Amino acid sequence: MKIRRLTNEERPTLSWPIQGYAFERSPMSATELEKYQEHLPYHEGNVTLVAEDDGGTRAVVSALPMRQNVRGGVFAMLGITGVATQPLARRQGHVRALVTRMLGDMRDEGYAVTALYPFRPSFYARFGYVGLPRPRTVRFSPADLGELLRADLPGELRWQRIREGYDDYRAFTERLLTSRHGFSLLPDHRAVQLRDRDDRWLVTAVADGEVVGALTYTIDGHGGTLLGEDMLTANPLGRALLLQFLARHVDQVDRISVVVPADESPELWATDLAIQSETRVVFPTLGAPMARVLSVEALRGISVGPGRVRIEVVDDPYVAGAYLLDGGSDLGAGAGAGAGAGRLDVTPGAGGAAASVPTATLTAAGISALVYGVLDPDELPLRGFGDVPAPAAAQLRSLFPRTMPYIFADF
Ligand SMILES: CC(C)(COP(=O)(O)OP(=O)(O)OC[C@H]1O[C@@H](n2cnc3c(N)ncnc32)[C@H](O)[C@@H]1OP(=O)(O)O)[C@@H](O)C(=O)NCCC(=O)NCCS
Repeated sequence: MKIRRLTNEERPTLSWPIQGYAFERSPMSATELEKYQEHLPYHEGNVTLVAEDDGGTRAVVSALPMRQNVRGGVFAMLGITGVATQPLARRQGHVRALVTRMLGDMRDEGYAVTALYPFRPSFYARFGYVGLPRPRTVRFSPADLGELLRADLPGELRWQRIREGYDDYRAFTERLLTSRHGFSLLPDHRAVQLRDRDDRWLVTAVADGEVVGALTYTIDGHGGTLLGEDMLTANPLGRALLLQFLARHVDQVDRISVVVPADESPELWATDLAIQSETRVVFPTLGAPMARVLSVEALRGISVGPGRVRIEVVDDPYVAGAYLLDGGSDLGAGAGAGAGAGRLDVTPGAGGAAASVPTATLTAAGISALVYGVLDPDELPLRGFGDVPAPAAAQLRSLFPRTMPYIFADF
């Protein structure tokens, strides 16, 4: 079996038939197949590896060149997608070989982190990925937002089709990328699909000339539901302006739904607001995202708390090895000579670390869970993600306080 990287022009004949079989209604008619060709420009910058033998293409893995905020630093993130094997070639190790090659090659090209939406998390847990929270869908009645209808808010609203407002929307997401932990963005060549499909409304909240909130949505009919996607806000004013806009639909729709980060509390948005908040995780169609670190050293400089610990990452082809992690000390004296208090310094090898520095043994999923802020060090041994003695747990808890990542991009 040979693994090779496809050109964009090869996709329709080599990778799409296998991915189409796995993810679309099939078999497709000749007209549907032809229509599919129009998607080619949205794949231009993607990386696709295929496994081939004498009988043709057996399996495929694609990846999107994305960016993600991890504790304040913006990193190249590899978004894995379109993982599929032809039905007769399944369970022969093709995808294992493809994913292993993809992660290794892309780590060497500078990708520090990777994320995906799993059809079954246990499959990707074998590759060191750890679960991240899935955003909540919140449903409420516009009538409950009555108090906002006449509120005098210091800002304005713009209401457009997404094609018109796309540039502002994209610029706003670029700003959130620099400020929100976990936030990830599709590459331009893929993101413009939203503009080109032009099948959504966009409402934008603006204050002092700056976008402070944005929501894309559709309406399914009179008396029906306003179906919002991610309600993106930069501050409470942005949220209040968007909610005021939604309140104006009181005589038009019965329900409103919007998507919010997992750590959001919509019941606190307004007085008398009744809500229903739901997280649905269903396999294989609606998985919660997973992510992992591909390079520990690349994380140098991210925002961390005080602490100093030695970690030994085991059982992983990409990040195995020893590292001294140093966030400086809040006491000043005795702080590591690292990147400075509040910023992570990483010293590979860490052989010279003083014997007094506590040590933890972690799997790739274990270090990823801490970096992404989704698990406490005490949870790691319970999940099979490492061995963390109490002194090391205390340092790791201080270095990597729990914080909920909000991944945003769906791919
Ligand atoms: C899921 C799929 C991609 C697996 O491809 P494959 O080439 O058969 O996978 P491999 O043979 O390389 O299996 C890799 C490992 O995962 C395991 N595995 C395979 N399917 C699994 C599943 N559904 N759940 C958990 N583990 C699984 C294998 O046992 C193997 O483990 P091992 O290396 O310890 O032996 C393939 O069955 C497929 O195309 N399914 C339909 C499309 C799909 O769901 N894609 C995933 C989208 S995220």
